[in-house]
Amino acid sequence: MESSKNIFSALPYQSKILSTGMYVPKKIVTNNDLSKIVETNDAWIKERTGISERRICSTEGGEFPTDMAKYATEAALKEANLAANDLDMIIFASVTPDYKLPNSSTVLQTKLGITNKCACLDIAVACSGFVYGMTLANSLIQTGVMKKVLVVGSEMLSREVDWSDRSICILFGDGCGVAIIGRAEPDEQSRILSTTLGGDGSGKEFFDQPIGGAVFPIKAEHIESGQHFMRMKGGEMFKVATRTLAQNAKKVITDAGLNLKDVDWLVPHQANIRIIETTGQILGIPPEKVIVNIQKYGNTSAATVPMAFHEAILEGKIKRGDTVLFDAFGAGLTSGAVLFIY
Ligand code: UT7
Repeated sequence: MESSKNIFSALPYQSKILSTGMYVPKKIVTNNDLSKIVETNDAWIKERTGISERRICSTEGGEFPTDMAKYATEAALKEANLAANDLDMIIFASVTPDYKLPNSSTVLQTKLGITNKCACLDIAVACSGFVYGMTLANSLIQTGVMKKVLVVGSEMLSREVDWSDRSICILFGDGCGVAIIGRAEPDEQSRILSTTLGGDGSGKEFFDQPIGGAVFPIKAEHIESGQHFMRMKGGEMFKVATRTLAQNAKKVITDAGLNLKDVDWLVPHQANIRIIETTGQILGIPPEKVIVNIQKYGNTSAATVPMAFHEAILEGKIKRGDTVLFDAFGAGLTSGAVLFIY
């Protein structure tokens, strides 16, 4: 997908992040907790992934993906001094929607009390979902189609994980991050500078979940054998992830007419600390400029980037005026990056 500052500067408006929010489930599951259900241990998980603990949604209700999105959005609306009805559109990125139908954005619209009949779009591009949503929001705002777009990454992967498979259950967690994207004033520094998106179906078998779709409707035999869960070839994902994250990062920086040294903060998808470190090394971005919170939450798919960004703001690391790079990669294989001045 073509993206460059030349295209952006020719468009009538520019966009920026107005505010952010996040919610994580109350229940904490540590590596030691997992060592009681599968043959693993805290030292292996920490060393090979960087994860110490993850959050898991309540199955009793109140913490489903649209519930988490509601709490996170209410905080973001408050921060931006906006009412829910000010939103023109909801883009909900998730591979674990509340229901197959209706889509999660309309469920969230109702939960937020929105009555303006705003546009509601769900996107299912796995871990790249938030970056895809932000890119779409940016384009709609730049062309004047929308003024304020809520982008959500909210996942309950604990439902799709085989809790008897140590190669996968240690990696994932639940959570939600959101951002409200709106117009930047012409004289403002804050703005989205460049974006890129990609996909490569030739690697689709590296991370998939074929059972439960139209081709293979879920049957009792699938559930009995555990075939309905997510499946991942971790080593293959690892190799493509580092390569793709670095390529996309370089592309958006070049497209914006900047250099790697101009990037104040890299906010990468939190899949594995070794992927994050390797990407930083390839790009020559020092560890102190790379935002990491995988130790607390594991891989929350579309939620990792907005959660890591939101926490870094709260911790006083990322400030208005900083140049920030979002960089994500996931099943599909999908990928995307957004470079912006916060
Ligand atoms: O969100 C985007 C999608 N996700 C990713 O991109 C994830 C990318 N991949 C990864 O993060 C890593 O490949 C994993 C963390 C999944 C696996 O790490 P690894 O260093 O590639 O380990 P491995 O699969 O090569 O396994 C090494 C050994 C094996 O034992 P043997 O064959 O050497 O005796 C595994 O059986 O570690 C064993 N092992 C474990 N041991 C303790 C695998 N899982 C575990 C475990 N605890 N949980």
